[in-house]
Amino acid sequence: MYKILEAKNLAGNIYEMIVEAPRVAARCMPGQFVIAKLDETAERIPLTITDYDREKGTIEIVFQPIGVSTTKYLDCKAGDSFEDFVGPLGRPSDLCEMSVEELKKLHIIFIAGGVGTAPVYPQAKWLHENGISCDVIIGAKTKDLVILEDKMSEVANVYVTTDDGSYGRSGMVTKCLEDLIAEGHSYDHCVAIGPMIMMKFCCLTTKKYGIKTIVSMNPIMVDGTGMCGACRLMVGDEVKFACVDGPEFDGHLVDFDLAMKRQTLYRTKEGEALLAYKEGKTHHGGCGECGGDR
Ligand code: NAD
Ligand code: FES
Repeated sequence: MYKILEAKNLAGNIYEMIVEAPRVAARCMPGQFVIAKLDETAERIPLTITDYDREKGTIEIVFQPIGVSTTKYLDCKAGDSFEDFVGPLGRPSDLCEMSVEELKKLHIIFIAGGVGTAPVYPQAKWLHENGISCDVIIGAKTKDLVILEDKMSEVANVYVTTDDGSYGRSGMVTKCLEDLIAEGHSYDHCVAIGPMIMMKFCCLTTKKYGIKTIVSMNPIMVDGTGMCGACRLMVGDEVKFACVDGPEFDGHLVDFDLAMKRQTLYRTKEGEALLAYKEGKTHHGGCGECGGDR
């Protein structure tokens, strides 16, 4: 069992929990995620790792109650437990695989949209701990939905922008990026994390400026082991699975329109069946081996 040490509301419909998971905390790196299950019969939910403390053996997760399972998380309080908390899953951020010397040559900008601010934080923190500075745009619909601004400001130069102009700059993250560039900032590496539509438009913007762009994809996931096929993506002309090949990919190669269409199709049994028919054997539903159909 994995004990919940703290559960709190961050902003609007966005919540944070601190969970005791020493083995995950010992090994996780920025960019990775966990899959959690509240009890035996609960759905598996992929959750972003927002922070980790190796000494205390804790993991911080951020979630939005959207479906039944994540809404049940709202009833959890300190002292309750997750039955399963599997991780770290996925590959660490590309940045963590570069040498400090290489990183020092880069002008790095993170674009963090809404809840996507949570997975940006551990990357910015890791860079800061390695003596590398970076800029972070935090975008939110409105002032009340801005999260992690204070924590992020301790490790990066932060620019907040709200769609309605109620706080910070005004407009979406893509406008903020263009404004920063017009003001004389120059970047050669961008990491954009947020809703798929945001990442799509960030990539269209950075392409114009020739800025290499990494995105963190969050398609529907089921088993998290690369077997069920739920998180399938097209990246360039290759089939990739976000849970094992990602979640980070070269954003200029990701087929966002297909990824968004798959998200919608996966919501219905009919859509799932259509994907299984079209995509063939990456959908093992019913094989009874990977558990992806349960
Ligand atoms: P949101 O809808 O509030 O959008 C956040 C920001 O993204 C906006 O303020 C805006 O600046 C920007 N944005 C949105 N649409 C845009 C567009 N068309 N062009 C340019 N910029 C645009 O975000 P939210 O409600 O916090 O996000 C929820 C979504 O984020 C969920 O779908 C969730 O799955 C996803 N998410 C993704 C990750 C990830 O790893 N990629 C992590 C957590 C959450
Ligand atoms: Fe990635 Fe099943 S969740 S293949």
